[in-house]
Amino acid sequence: MPLRLPEQVRIVEVSPRDGLQNEKAIVSTADKITLIDALSETGLTHIEVSSFVDPRWIPPLADAREVFQGIRRKRGVVYSALIPNVKGYERSIEANIDEAVIFMSSSETHNLKNINKRIDETFPVLREVAEKALADGKTVRAYVSTVFGCPYEGPVAPEKVREIVLELVDMGVREISLGDTVGLANPQQVMRVMEFLAERVDLGVFALHFHDTRGTALANALAGLMAGVTTFDSSLGGLGGCPYAPGASGNVATDDLVYMLEEMGVSTGVDLNRVVEASRFMQAVLGRELPSRYLKSRLSACEV
Ligand code: HMG
Ligand code: MG
Repeated sequence: MPLRLPEQVRIVEVSPRDGLQNEKAIVSTADKITLIDALSETGLTHIEVSSFVDPRWIPPLADAREVFQGIRRKRGVVYSALIPNVKGYERSIEANIDEAVIFMSSSETHNLKNINKRIDETFPVLREVAEKALADGKTVRAYVSTVFGCPYEGPVAPEKVREIVLELVDMGVREISLGDTVGLANPQQVMRVMEFLAERVDLGVFALHFHDTRGTALANALAGLMAGVTTFDSSLGGLGGCPYAPGASGNVATDDLVYMLEEMGVSTGVDLNRVVEASRFMQAVLGRELPSRYLKSRLSACEV
């Protein structure tokens, strides 16, 4: 019996932000700009360019403004950035972002370690950013991290996730990406969490953001797809990770996700050959192989 799948899926490319924030080697501003310009030519419609967090917390993305100033913007592509507070928002406005991405965690300890606040203290900070962005005519996206488990606290109650989601919806966010920050999720859990959230929130609001720490990211994406989600975050070559979440490794690879979806007849609008070219470029920049399995297959003799 064939799987019941949507005809089309939207991919949010997070490699310039999630991918590079965790890299030991500092990638030059020029190489970041080359990467983003290459991504703009793949057919991707949403690229998370950088973040305007405190650069002392995330040194690899300290050049967010210069990166935004250097990229060639393609019509129809949304260029977004992570914003933790009004100070970050003001910096991002100078860089002319298209979309503000606010973020928080569904577990207290990760929230504290990552953004130095309790969950209840975070809401007014994010609300102020959202209000300013909406007043300036920007769209707002949000992340909820550790939805499927926290590296410090273990399991996270779906009720807690829903409480945060409802607050974010009330702030006027366009989309909420649910993060499996350290790759703990399994497909059954993804189905259950989405079913639970769908009781109160339209599924069209959600994106899913899977890290592949334990090799379950593609399976989780498929479960999300079957649950009715049609937006997925992924990262070129499988780059990625949060420095404030021990054990976090790369996101599901854009290369692998696009391959799986297109082979199943689900349209992504993304040119896989161009994604592979950009992944090859990043392998050369970083001087190591990237985790994407599809990329490895293209680089080895088994290419067909
Ligand atoms: P704080 O120290 O509590 O901030 O950090 P503060 O408001 O008390 O200010 C302290 C100092 O920082 C002040 O400067 C501020 O001006 C400055 P001082 O007076 O000491 O010279 N400051 C800033 N400077 C530049 N830009 C700013 C900014 N804000 C304050 N925006 C803060 C709080 C949130 C800023 C800090 O904790 C931070 O930057 N955290 C970011 C951590 C981060 O980026 N983590 C990775 C992204 S999240 C992730 O990867 C998960 C995700 O992928 C989804 C998933 O996988 O689940 C999204
Ligand atoms: Mg992430």
